[in-house]
Amino acid sequence: MLSQEPNSITSPSWWQLINWISDPIGFQRKYSQKYGDIFSMHLSGIGSSVIVGNPQAIQEIFNQDSKFDVGRGNELAKPLLGENSLILLDGGRHRRERKLLMPPFHGEKLQAYAKQICLITEQTGSQWQINQPFVVRSTMQKISLEVILQIVFGLSQGERYEQLKPLLTSWLDMTDSPLRSSMLFLRFLQKDWGIWTPWGRMKQRQRQIHDLLQAEITEKRTKQDSTGGDVLSLMMAAQDENGQVMSDEELRDELLTILFAGHETTATTLSWAFYQILRHPDILEKLQHELDSLGNNHNPMEIAQLPHLTAVCQETLRMYPVIPALFPRIAKSSIKIAGYEFGAETTFLPSIYLVHYREDLYPNPQQFKPERFLERQYSPAEYLPFGGGSRRCLGYALAQLEMKLVLATILSKYQLVLAEDKPIKIQRRGFTLAPKGGVRIMITGKRI
Ligand code: HEM
Repeated sequence: MLSQEPNSITSPSWWQLINWISDPIGFQRKYSQKYGDIFSMHLSGIGSSVIVGNPQAIQEIFNQDSKFDVGRGNELAKPLLGENSLILLDGGRHRRERKLLMPPFHGEKLQAYAKQICLITEQTGSQWQINQPFVVRSTMQKISLEVILQIVFGLSQGERYEQLKPLLTSWLDMTDSPLRSSMLFLRFLQKDWGIWTPWGRMKQRQRQIHDLLQAEITEKRTKQDSTGGDVLSLMMAAQDENGQVMSDEELRDELLTILFAGHETTATTLSWAFYQILRHPDILEKLQHELDSLGNNHNPMEIAQLPHLTAVCQETLRMYPVIPALFPRIAKSSIKIAGYEFGAETTFLPSIYLVHYREDLYPNPQQFKPERFLERQYSPAEYLPFGGGSRRCLGYALAQLEMKLVLATILSKYQLVLAEDKPIKIQRRGFTLAPKGGVRIMITGKRI
């Protein structure tokens, strides 16, 4: 017989907030050991949520998608991305903009990007010096930023792009540690008192980014050039049911969202992949053997089909969720989940981490074992690195293709080693999770 409500963490809400900001993985591990795979937390100044690590319950949430609002649960991201960001939208507007943004990130379009991704990776690799350690996360961020800028704007050069790249990176680096991330969660720190305050500096960079995006929008409007296949052109050409086009503010927030969501995440996951591959010489050897078997002159899309490479990417995404939990799902009316009755306005946080570390689904979950994905299939609620339902990551297909192509290009060309022997911890980086220190590696020689 189930009780009326799941267990609730009893520590003070300010203490829960500090722990959630500083170590969201340790937080979930600790309380799931105490309370099981569904429990409530209360974060001071933010509110209560039910953390769900039970795949059946998550499936129930995905199945009843239309009974939840998600956009308004992402309120914390508003100061960063703007109120018109896809992740803050709900209902008809969310559906419409998602439909508009899906095609450039899927299907045939991806094939067109494949060669470009390999080329960008080759150019980056050609600058590496033998035996000179570098932070792989920063390098991966350069590659993924270049990729997403090309897809979003359809261009890869010009003064504006050269300005935008370092600005976006330094803007995101402003929340590269738990302490620096706290300003995203603590509203009293969100005061723009000029550039001597962290928030003031953050806002200043954001204004500079807005100006560059606005200049791009204005230029495209002046040229009346909305015919290209890039994301900005598609958004500019789109009309709603009343024939209304998107305003400049709407375009700007959406561009920023895609730039933000579309490159840090992929770069972080790639750096974890390098970390694990280089810690396991047997896995590296298997991968290089698989890549060599393709021979020269293969189509980049053949790389995407390679079973070991695919399994390595899947296992990396299992072990290292890029966000501590999926976007909040707020029940629009009372709802039954996992046998409990919840009232309207209950917020659910399906936890990628808790599901991906379940012993019953992933035996020895702390071990990097790509073969598990060759041995069995997982349902959408058992394996959810990209979320699910109508909020599933817009860029999941691009991200997976990009991961495979970048790994394949580098691993087939270079011999690499980790530059440090110590285990690397997961650390909060803004709303995301990343390897502390970014993973230092170096090339020891060329293979071809
Ligand atoms: C390894 C890389 C990536 C991972 C692990 C990842 C993961 C996620 C997750 C977990 C969500 C939340 C889904 C939910 O709550 O159900 C999400 C949403 C989203 N992602 Fe990704 N993502 C990645 C790359 C990308 C890329 C390349 C793009 C570029 C288009 C992108 C754009 C988005 C957008 C726009 C949303 C919001 C979707 C909505 O609210 O409808 N992501 N992503």
